[in-house]
Amino acid sequence: MPIRQFQAQRMIAPRQFQPIKNEPVVVEIGAGKGKHALQFVQQFPETTLYAIERTREKFDAMLKQAKSMSNDHFYPIHADALPWITHALYPKQVTTFYILYPNPEPHNPAQRWLNMPFFEFLLSRLVEGGQIILASNLAEYISEAEQQLLHVWHLPYQKQIIDTHSARTHFEVKYLARGEQCQQLVITKPEYYQTRFDDFSPLNGINA
Ligand SMILES: C[S@@+](CC[C@H](N)C(=O)[O-])C[C@H]1O[C@@H](n2cnc3c(N)ncnc32)[C@H](O)[C@@H]1O
Repeated sequence: MPIRQFQAQRMIAPRQFQPIKNEPVVVEIGAGKGKHALQFVQQFPETTLYAIERTREKFDAMLKQAKSMSNDHFYPIHADALPWITHALYPKQVTTFYILYPNPEPHNPAQRWLNMPFFEFLLSRLVEGGQIILASNLAEYISEAEQQLLHVWHLPYQKQIIDTHSARTHFEVKYLARGEQCQQLVITKPEYYQTRFDDFSPLNGINA
């Protein structure tokens, strides 16, 4: 069954929204306290990273650490990722999206990232050859995402098992310490891939 179309033009701009430049960027969604984002910035100081987190206390923890390091390419964003992405990002702008240990939404499967109509919009923001890295400790979350990739989104991916010594995020550390297996899907957008949002310009705060 084709997925319903995401209503991008109805998205209300996040509070204090600031438009961004149309240049290649990496985006982390649900960055938590920013452990992965900070490591990324240290490893790739010249790459522009937007790390989005909607929970105030976690965002504040990330911001505090971001301020302690001087990097002009690291932008912690306090917002819900859906409106922020719809208002800020240009088509084919993002080289990598990181979605590391998203909320499993046990009572609301429609809110899981690959089940949402919004996922099509996310794909439209990726460059050709760009990647989405989706990690989870839940085998069911990963296998459901694989089914969506095969039957709804028709996208190639690789499944990887996370090394038990990996420590990219606070949740990853917690799950691996408990002896849980963590996995990730590395999803690639092929050159020919089209979405219904390929010509959709960022709203740039229009519905504020
Ligand atoms: C389970 S935590 C994982 C945090 C971090 N990635 C880690 O692995 O430690 C999921 C995070 O995603 C954030 N989140 C969930 N939905 C979001 C959304 N729509 N926009 C921004 N952040 C979101 C939550 O606030 C939470 O901090």
